[in-house]
Amino acid sequence: MSNPVIDCLLGHRTVRKFKAKPIEEDKLELILRAGTRAANGGNLQLYSFVVIDDPAKKKELAAMWKHSAINLANAPVIIIALADLSRLRQWFAIHDSVPAHTGRAACLFLSIWDSLIALQNIVVAAESMSMGTCYIGSVLELDIRKFLNTPEYVFPAGMVCLGYPEQIPDLSMRLPMDAIVHRNGYQAFTASQIEKFYKERDAVWDRIPEKRKAMLAEQNLFSIAQAVAAQKFSDQVTEERSRGILDNLHQAKFDLTGEGNK
Ligand SMILES: Cc1cc2nc3c(=O)[nH]c(=O)nc-3n(C[C@H](O)[C@H](O)[C@H](O)COP(=O)(O)O)c2cc1C
Repeated sequence: MSNPVIDCLLGHRTVRKFKAKPIEEDKLELILRAGTRAANGGNLQLYSFVVIDDPAKKKELAAMWKHSAINLANAPVIIIALADLSRLRQWFAIHDSVPAHTGRAACLFLSIWDSLIALQNIVVAAESMSMGTCYIGSVLELDIRKFLNTPEYVFPAGMVCLGYPEQIPDLSMRLPMDAIVHRNGYQAFTASQIEKFYKERDAVWDRIPEKRKAMLAEQNLFSIAQAVAAQKFSDQVTEERSRGILDNLHQAKFDLTGEGNK
């Protein structure tokens, strides 16, 4: 069975090279509206979108991630989804409400959930109009107070680049459905099941050029799993990224200890 929505979802691929062609204003407006139609907790829409299309601002952003696989300065539009409890607090204040504990984990997680559901709506809407998209994970550590002038109780939940694709990449692999879907409870896997699930990924190692493999061997890396663990989950990488995230939470007055702050 197929329909245009399913076709769009099953045809998703991340696009990292965009044509210089700008996104038409009416289409951008439609994409943003599709974002705001997403389900959200209590219909409070605990998020804001910042649309970045000013070349100078994009360049400033690109300069922060020089080693990125994508040149952000070339993306026609970048959208940052902010988990935003600041606007809600202002509404409460106008109405002299009871002290609002908007800094607690419950509020932060709900607002991140709202933000990312809305952002994925944006992605699907853009892709349905033949645009390409690329999420950028490192927005979590972006100093948004400095870069966007955000107030307290605002946290960068997600970021996506949008534009018309320069080329359409191949579909990327996915784990088999058995590795992902559990019915009525979680079934822990045996090592041989895990090996089966990751077989296609492990096989990528065999296609790496010998020269690159030799470089990886110098770092004691002899498989895809070892390379991923070292490049994305090492003590240094996770510590550095977490520090940036914790700084953002702290600056925004989010307090995950459960103490709460008014
Ligand atoms: C949370 C998240 C963060 C991502 N961060 C980046 C990024 O910083 N740079 C990048 O080039 N791609 C990034 N991507 C895109 C992924 O690399 C891509 O979705 C994944 O490799 C699967 O490929 P596909 O989207 O083409 O199917 C990110 C995707 C997600 C969902």
